[in-house]
Amino acid sequence: MKFYFYDSASDTDQGAAKSFIKMTNGIATPKIGLATGNTPVGLYQCLVQAYNQKKISFKTFLTYNLDEYVGLTKDHPQSFAYFMNEHLFNGVDILEGNIHIPQGNVESPHVEAAKYEKLLEDAGALDVQILSIGLNGHIGFNEPGEKLHSKTHVIELTEDTRRVNSKSFPSFEEVPLSAITLGLGTIMKAKKILFIAKGFEKADIIQQAFEGPLTTDVPGSLLQLHPNIEVHLDKEAASKLARI
Ligand code: PGA
Repeated sequence: MKFYFYDSASDTDQGAAKSFIKMTNGIATPKIGLATGNTPVGLYQCLVQAYNQKKISFKTFLTYNLDEYVGLTKDHPQSFAYFMNEHLFNGVDILEGNIHIPQGNVESPHVEAAKYEKLLEDAGALDVQILSIGLNGHIGFNEPGEKLHSKTHVIELTEDTRRVNSKSFPSFEEVPLSAITLGLGTIMKAKKILFIAKGFEKADIIQQAFEGPLTTDVPGSLLQLHPNIEVHLDKEAASKLARI
């Protein structure tokens, strides 16, 4: 694990964007795992800016999103498909056919999860997986529990996660009950992981994930096993780590 510490959230976004450009530079067809949520918004802004400054082109990129809410169409404002268009895809030269996101509004989410898993298996290991962590330790939507799944699956969201995510919905009741998410196997198979966290509210879970025991109660703790992970933290998120 390689740690990068920054004074501010915006320095973290810029530092992570620089790393992303370096990690993908020279790869003919980069295969990228994308995350949603508040954390990567700043990174995506930096990447759109870098694209406008001709420091990066997404023309040959293949992207695979981590997860999607079950039941939401891709033009629903709270869907992750909509989020990606708004925060990254509309601002860069990515080709629509190269974008992959599980479909939330399907008859059988389980069939969709299996299809997405096959797509990822056929693609092979992702070159870079962009990742953050939820307050309860989840990565993607792999929620804490007795068991973690390796493959893409449908997961029932915990009440904690639904409460945290309800900030972006008109009401708590409208937060979907389940989601399709990549499993830990595919996440851990990525050649490189670019991990970001910012803010005091993440300090405890960052300490548990990166300095605590490996446990399915904190799915992010398994990242300690990844051979090539960069952890980009602002000083608030890093404030409970013993190592600094
Ligand atoms: P956040 O979510 O970036 O909105 O904090 C992260 C996550 O749930 O993985």
